[in-house]
Amino acid sequence: MKTRMIIDTDPGIDDAMTNHYAFADPDIEVVGLTSVFGNVFVEQGTRNALRLLEMAGVDAPVAEGANAPLAMPLSPPSHHIHGHEGFGGIAAETPKGSAVDMTAAEFMIKTCAENLNEIVICAIGPLTNLALALRLDPRIAQTVKKVVIMGGAVETAGNITPFAEANIYHDPHAAAEVFAAEWEVVLVGLDVTHQITCSTGDFFEIKGNSPRMGGFIKEISEFYLNFYTSIGKYEGCSLHDPTAIIAAAHPEYFQMSSIPLRVVTEGEAQGQTIAAPEADTPCVQVCLDVDDVAVKRKFIDLYRNLA
Ligand code: RIB
Ligand code: CA
Repeated sequence: MKTRMIIDTDPGIDDAMTNHYAFADPDIEVVGLTSVFGNVFVEQGTRNALRLLEMAGVDAPVAEGANAPLAMPLSPPSHHIHGHEGFGGIAAETPKGSAVDMTAAEFMIKTCAENLNEIVICAIGPLTNLALALRLDPRIAQTVKKVVIMGGAVETAGNITPFAEANIYHDPHAAAEVFAAEWEVVLVGLDVTHQITCSTGDFFEIKGNSPRMGGFIKEISEFYLNFYTSIGKYEGCSLHDPTAIIAAAHPEYFQMSSIPLRVVTEGEAQGQTIAAPEADTPCVQVCLDVDDVAVKRKFIDLYRNLA
């Protein structure tokens, strides 16, 4: 059975890789995209989400989401990692379509209510839209099937700071509300995403599998790879967001531990995700290990299904 999915995204280079992968995977049905601030401003994210759908010829709605965190000022977008428009050096382009007349939170609530326990929300940006959906209608915790999050770093260091992963850092209050709710949450953080890297050679293979859409991914990845080279820590770039989508549809590649989490909301450790066995909050399924070879192979090979 297909995993029916809303992708909550801040596109973003690895978000673009992810959305295209999701369109290619026969085990995933994308029922809609929701945008959020993060790698770019939310208006850019909405435009980029529409562009990705149009590029793929996929007819699915986009709902625009939050333009700022719940309780703190907006951090500047990650232009140095994702480019000024979100797709590396590629210029902005106006999509043909436009977003639906509903917020991301309203779209999540409506879609989950109309498809009881069928929809997986895969959040690959800051968690603000999920927290707003919970505030607007807490029943979504019972109507959604599962929430899969690219975010956090539980047994490893952060990326945006030594303590925090970027998506959680950008709205730690939202993350705390999401981890405190009574729904199934799977956390796909740096513990596993830093194990999966793609090199220039891998992106050439993706382009070979899919000249047009894979070629676009190859082109925008050059900017992303340059950033990774500049920090000098990794061979290639991490497949953060694609790993979360693959975990949502193919959990068999991942080893998870059931752990209650605490999020640091202020100070130098803002955004840190800490295992807190004593906490009186529901357990989160934290991905702590992964079959990195299999996940990367799946990511590259499924691009064969795209033009
Ligand atoms: O830390 C990685 C995350 O931050 C990814 O979602 C990437 O797109 C950026 O938003
Ligand atoms: Ca992202």
